Amino acid sequence: MQPSVSSDNIVVVKRMFLLERGNRFLETNAVIEARQLQKTYGQALAVKGIDFSVQRGECFGFLGPNGAGKTSTMKMIYGRTSISGGELYVLGFDAKRQMSQIKGRVGVVPQENNLDPELTVLENLILYGRYFGMIRQEAGERARARLDFLGLEDKAGALPHELSGGMKRRLIIARALLNDPEILILDEPTTGLDPRARHVVWQKLAELREAGSTLILTTHYMEEAARLCDRLVVMDHGQILARGEPTGLVEEVAGPYVLEINSSLLNGDHLVPDGLVRRRETVGGRTFLFNHDNGTLLDRFEGLKLRAGQYLARPTNLEDVFLILTGRSLEE
Ligand SMILES: Nc1ncnc2c1ncn2[C@@H]1O[C@H](COP(=O)(O)OP(=O)(O)OP(=O)(O)O)[C@@H](O)[C@H]1O
Ligand SMILES: [Mg+2]
Repeated sequence: MQPSVSSDNIVVVKRMFLLERGNRFLETNAVIEARQLQKTYGQALAVKGIDFSVQRGECFGFLGPNGAGKTSTMKMIYGRTSISGGELYVLGFDAKRQMSQIKGRVGVVPQENNLDPELTVLENLILYGRYFGMIRQEAGERARARLDFLGLEDKAGALPHELSGGMKRRLIIARALLNDPEILILDEPTTGLDPRARHVVWQKLAELREAGSTLILTTHYMEEAARLCDRLVVMDHGQILARGEPTGLVEEVAGPYVLEINSSLLNGDHLVPDGLVRRRETVGGRTFLFNHDNGTLLDRFEGLKLRAGQYLARPTNLEDVFLILTGRSLEE
């Protein structure tokens, strides 16, 4: 009789096997794990020792002002730049030593469109597929399917310079999907897209996420982050300032409501009533009064006889979180 093998034993043996292979984090559901991750360029510290982990199947966002360190972080994840300090594991592999294992499993939409200008749309994709060891026919079939998915099937024979900015961006996304990546890294995927094209891309990204892909997204569009991200971090000056689910962050950092009002109107007699306002930010001549009840707050300003355009009373959103957390650098 065969000795029976309990399922517990199999789990233990599999864990040992994975650990030996270098897959350190597969037991937890994390596909990316960063600890004290650092990036320096010469003397400058662009990423100052950040910790984060991305779970399989989620969309994880990085927000932050220009120069915050988002792209530097992305580049370390997909091996475009070296890691200066700390630890980074991608799909269980050590990004410092095992990048060759990682590269084929990750799809990348870099911040800059880096298409080959001399190759047609289709050839750009086929060449990319060849880098991943696909034979020409397979690369061609996959390329046409991805062009279809992104609505670019009519452009297969065009050269990159014949595409609009939004089409180029969609082409880069198509290219990133060529090898059916387990993780898709999207560095500002919709920058420069018109609202319609942006919605198309959002829909495609949502479909990919539904199908089980893990997405890592940087964006300056707060609506995009709110729609797509399960969790996100806000970075500035190479550090993570806050993290959480979009709605949770809005509630925690900004509270429920904000009254925007022209700052010049708040001078003189009409001081902001302290008790009602939990936080006050001024950006570019507009003051944001974060509060729990816009109606009561507006009553206090009755004497100002506010006209449309001078104020806006609304629920808070992720844009406010960004403003509050990184407001200082906006004013610098
Ligand atoms: N190759 C490089 N050499 C030197 N410094 C660099 C290099 N790449 C980035 N930096 C610097 O590192 C810092 C972070 O840049 P990074 O591109 O990561 O920011 P980001 O958050 O992606 O900004 P953006 O929103 O503008 O894309 C910046 O101060 C930038 O000047
Ligand atoms: Mg960037």
